[in-house]
Amino acid sequence: MTDRLWDILFDIHADLPRQGPGDDESTLRALTQCEGLPAAPAILDIGCGPGMQTLALARARPEAHIAAIDFHQPYLDDLDGRADAAGCADRIVTQRADMADLPFAHGTFDLIWSEGAAYSMGVDAALAAWKPLLREGGYLTFTELVWLADEPPETAAAFFAEEYPAMRHDDAVADAVEAAGYALIDRFVLPDAAWWTHYYTPLSERLALLDRKYADDAEALGVIATSKREIEMRRRFGTAYGYEFFVARETA
Ligand SMILES: C[S@@+](CC[C@H](N)C(=O)[O-])C[C@H]1O[C@@H](n2cnc3c(N)ncnc32)[C@H](O)[C@@H]1O
Repeated sequence: MTDRLWDILFDIHADLPRQGPGDDESTLRALTQCEGLPAAPAILDIGCGPGMQTLALARARPEAHIAAIDFHQPYLDDLDGRADAAGCADRIVTQRADMADLPFAHGTFDLIWSEGAAYSMGVDAALAAWKPLLREGGYLTFTELVWLADEPPETAAAFFAEEYPAMRHDDAVADAVEAAGYALIDRFVLPDAAWWTHYYTPLSERLALLDRKYADDAEALGVIATSKREIEMRRRFGTAYGYEFFVARETA
């Protein structure tokens, strides 16, 4: 992607509570599957964005230390402010980093968390690259956009063939987790509300404003139109695909 395209995308997604589908209930449901974590777990949140899930983790595990990384500094600044307001700034350390080249020693973390971000480097590459950062028996918990239908509707299939060609059926992602040397502990599909409340509803409001801001900018209007089509796909074909949580455990 060009820098210009990233700038437009970041502008479209500025000031949203989340940068992808999710909600605290789902975050906590996945966390409860990570049995046997130490009392003060070391957690790495990869692609944290503005950090709604980082804060949910910090609240649920009051002795956890969380490293939260993203490559977009404004999200990290946002999270720093939220962590401060929530009184847990001392336990959430943000750092600008590339998820494909993380600056941490092997065996550092009890739990690696990544909501809606692993796709950015590719799930299989992420499964391989992040495993060495886990302590023995550590957990990797992530969400991923997946097909739920065996035969997706043509319109939705055509849209995602353009927008996310690497999208797989959820069973194929589960297989990839195990093939990468993890035990799959749990998986569940996020509820439909998790797409709307903190993500598509505020995003739709923002897109309406940006239509006016970028009225003379064909490239930006194209990106805005694609975002609107993505939301329309969800309205029309939301049962054919979903966001799924995968809770995996490192097996030595
Ligand atoms: C879909 S958003 C999800 C954000 C957040 N986890 C949430 O659920 O709201 C993906 C995040 O990954 C970050 N990201 C994408 N590629 C990255 C990379 N190579 N290294 C670090 N962060 C990256 C983006 O800046 C963005 O914040």
